[in-house]
Amino acid sequence: MEKLIVEGGRQLSGEVRISGAKNAALPLIAATLLAPGKHTLRNVPDLRDTRTFMRLMGELGVTSERNGNTVTLDSTQLVHAEVSYDLVKTMRASVLVLGPLVARLGRARVSLPGGCAIGARPINFHIMGLEALGVSCRLENGYVDAEISTPLQGNVIYFDIPSVTATENLLMAAVLAEGTTVLKNVAREPEIGNLIDMLNGMGAEIEGKDSGRLTIKGVTSLRPADCRIIPDRIEAGTYLMAIAATGGNGMVTHCNPSHLPSLLEKLRAVGLIVVETKDTISINWPEGDTNSYRKLRSVDIKTMPYPGYPTDLQAQFMALMTISSDVSMVNETIFENRFMHVAELRRMGADIKVDGHSAVVSGKGMRGLNGAPVMATDLRASSSLVVAGLAATGRTEITRIYHLERGYENLVEKLTGLGARVWKESV
Ligand code: EPZ
Repeated sequence: MEKLIVEGGRQLSGEVRISGAKNAALPLIAATLLAPGKHTLRNVPDLRDTRTFMRLMGELGVTSERNGNTVTLDSTQLVHAEVSYDLVKTMRASVLVLGPLVARLGRARVSLPGGCAIGARPINFHIMGLEALGVSCRLENGYVDAEISTPLQGNVIYFDIPSVTATENLLMAAVLAEGTTVLKNVAREPEIGNLIDMLNGMGAEIEGKDSGRLTIKGVTSLRPADCRIIPDRIEAGTYLMAIAATGGNGMVTHCNPSHLPSLLEKLRAVGLIVVETKDTISINWPEGDTNSYRKLRSVDIKTMPYPGYPTDLQAQFMALMTISSDVSMVNETIFENRFMHVAELRRMGADIKVDGHSAVVSGKGMRGLNGAPVMATDLRASSSLVVAGLAATGRTEITRIYHLERGYENLVEKLTGLGARVWKESV
């Protein structure tokens, strides 16, 4: 086990290169199951979660090879269609093989993901959608046994909640169904657009990208993919808030500003000057705003499905608000237990009161936090502790950093490149 040491109070500056998106890489790796042959995925981040997913694909018979951030996967020979609880319990996104396995092999046996730190994480919409396409799904002994006795049939499917991975699972099942499928009230996250572009490049016929309604005309077969993973908007937002929390000026590169519409407006509301180009975002402070007088305005956020404020950037923004100059409200509407970072931020001196899905943050002003030993509980909560540790005076030690390694490629190198003093030590 390792811990991350953060010597806070140093202003970050300079440029940081953003990696490929974890939440695009996972569904796109799963989609290679849909067509036998050699697929090439580019800009794939090297993370704990992508390594776990490749292991899972290996168990299904897919051989893969990584060369830098390019990954080739050969899905010609699938050996079986079962995904064990051991794998799924470490990474819920394993459920993303359900749709493509049923479409390719006509069956799949995938362990129910179970809950995680941030919520119960049910998959009822995944099951409802597959059953609408003619799949029989039996839930027993903690597994989903999915099977078709006749070819998948297109249908109209309405989602009560725009679920990201349910939309992705149903897209991957419908592309090889007979007839046309219409998915209504679907999620519109950019990672879904990346999957649609990949599938259409493989010969699928999907219309409605970035809208709330997708029309999929089933085809009989697909060809191997060669496509690029989009930049990680959550990683980009995390670094922007880390730079802001230290009173620094900086730029994230190799990103897509149009994927962060709500965060960039919130950073402007906080008082920062945010400049976008095609693939960079830079933040600066207003003229005359000298270090000693740097102030962050207190701003409210409410997490919503894309293009609303992303739940995956809620914890990091809360960390930023703990050093703002007034009082702000954070309202989490997507997951039922996504305030695990609050107790840890309080250990650093933050003043946060939680009432159900809302948290009232009374800002302590810049340098208002003190370093402390804290514990990571889930991926994004742990990145909020890094943001707070960078802003705090003194040393912060973060344990259980395997959470961080799930979603942030080369974190220590990237932060060091911005002038941070961070390193890992064994516990
Ligand atoms: C995806 O999770 C992301 N994971 C999450 O990122 C992200 O927080 C989430 O979307 C919301 O944006 C991946 O893409 C791998 P949902 P997902 O289905 O698809 C309820 C991270 O940190 N729901 O969009 O599991 C659900 O409980 C991770 O990178 C059902 O009720 O989330 C939640 O309240 C964390 N039944 C809401 O919908 C279902 O069948 C939205 O969840 C499915 C979901």
